[in-house]
Amino acid sequence: MKIRLSKSASASSELTVLFCAEGETKNLPPVLQPCWDAAKHTGDVKTDPQKTSVFHPHKGPKRLGCVGIGKQKDVDTERLRRAAAVAQAVAEDRGARSFELIVDASQFGKADAEQAGAAIAEGLVLGAYRYQPPKKDAPKPRKGHDCSVVLLSGDQKAFAQGFARGEIGAAATVFARDLENMAGNLCTPTVLADAAKKLAGNGVTVKVLDKAAMERLKMGAMLGVAKGSSEPPKFVVMEYGPKSAKETVCIIGKGLTFDSGGISIKPAAKMDEMRYDMCGAGAVLGLFHALKHGAMKGQKQSRRIVGLIAATENMVGPEAQKPGDIVRAMDGHTIEVLNTDAEGRLVLCDAIAYAKKFYEPKQIVDLATLTGAVVVALGHEVAGLLGNDQKLVDSLIAAGKAADEPLWQLPLWDVHKDQMKSKFADLANINGGQGGGTIAGAAFLSFFAGDTPWAHLDIAGTAWGGIAKDYYRSGASGTAVRTLLAFVRG
Ligand code: BES
Ligand code: MN
Ligand code: ZN
Repeated sequence: MKIRLSKSASASSELTVLFCAEGETKNLPPVLQPCWDAAKHTGDVKTDPQKTSVFHPHKGPKRLGCVGIGKQKDVDTERLRRAAAVAQAVAEDRGARSFELIVDASQFGKADAEQAGAAIAEGLVLGAYRYQPPKKDAPKPRKGHDCSVVLLSGDQKAFAQGFARGEIGAAATVFARDLENMAGNLCTPTVLADAAKKLAGNGVTVKVLDKAAMERLKMGAMLGVAKGSSEPPKFVVMEYGPKSAKETVCIIGKGLTFDSGGISIKPAAKMDEMRYDMCGAGAVLGLFHALKHGAMKGQKQSRRIVGLIAATENMVGPEAQKPGDIVRAMDGHTIEVLNTDAEGRLVLCDAIAYAKKFYEPKQIVDLATLTGAVVVALGHEVAGLLGNDQKLVDSLIAAGKAADEPLWQLPLWDVHKDQMKSKFADLANINGGQGGGTIAGAAFLSFFAGDTPWAHLDIAGTAWGGIAKDYYRSGASGTAVRTLLAFVRG
């Protein structure tokens, strides 16, 4: 499937799609005006958001598709993204190999041309996404629904810039979704690390630390988690941007390719969903996919961006760590592992320690499917955000807003940190029945961030399980890739 911008509407196409706002009078090119007038005359044009109607004009395009966008003043990037994804679905439904999408700046409502271009490209690409599961009969290659987008009037240059940005972000999200949707036995830490290695080039460098290297670095917390599994853990280090850069931002992803809970084993119901426990890593890999494919082209790039992925399974086995075991993290903190299912923080704390030791970063951001509690607190449509630096937190909130991937800050206070102290070690990995599980996870990590500005995104709710919304159907959402992109672009 290819998407591109086109200067003018063609006189004939298999399918031409228009966005239709309530009460709008259209000023279309002469090749389209008559068929629009005819469609309008039927009274069947639907303008409610995401509603579609298809007409078969005598002249011009073979089919005219209309996708409702509601009241013009209510239109925003999310609505445009959904409308573009719906246009893609109309093409699929009608079996059109290619189609044209005709839009006009007057329809963009609250969005500017750049934002609209990005949202439309994202909707087209993400709307076409389907995970192709491994089946006996190789799936038929999906029919492409190539799309040419025409902006009738408005800032063509800004629209094109946004369109290019949106396409890169959406392709990166697709890349993340594909890894995230894979079964736990198919996407192991090794497979994840190999996927990262393939991102090398075009300014991206990738290094993978194996278990022996992790032992040399004394990453005792992460290695404790890995002990129960026969799959070797991997620690991935990706870099982008000038080595000479004065500032580095480290972005860390939880890469649990499967989380059984370990000895503190999870209940059977929905345990299969713990394949998604690497979606933090998915987001970071998605970010680097975008960087490799030109996400920062034309941007002033003064910061180095470092991506770190802590990849392992959390399993039961004769070697598995036990509740009450004490491990020592890379930075020397000892940790009492009171619950082996609170493993995400154990791999992240060593990643934070690694970031601080080797990069002295200006900022650290981690992303993790860390707690079921965040699903209880915030549900599947907004991710939890906590940190020790309000400026960093605010910039992430702004990035999430720009990407329509909302983030909601939760408190993280000294009293929460006090809950993480242990009698038998410096820290315990759970707060001992105090509730507020999402805060506890972040409170634990805050000890490792120390004075470095740090923020933590708990994406356990948003990584999968949200309602279908045209550009997302089911399974992994590829969440936070676009937020991270907005964040690094500043
Ligand atoms: N990966 C899970 C978090 C999770 C659970 C995400 C359910 C989505 C749905 C994490 O490793 C975990 O097991 N967390 C525990 C922490 C608890 C033991 C303090 C949880 O949330 O139950
Ligand atoms: Mn767990
Ligand atoms: Zn987990």
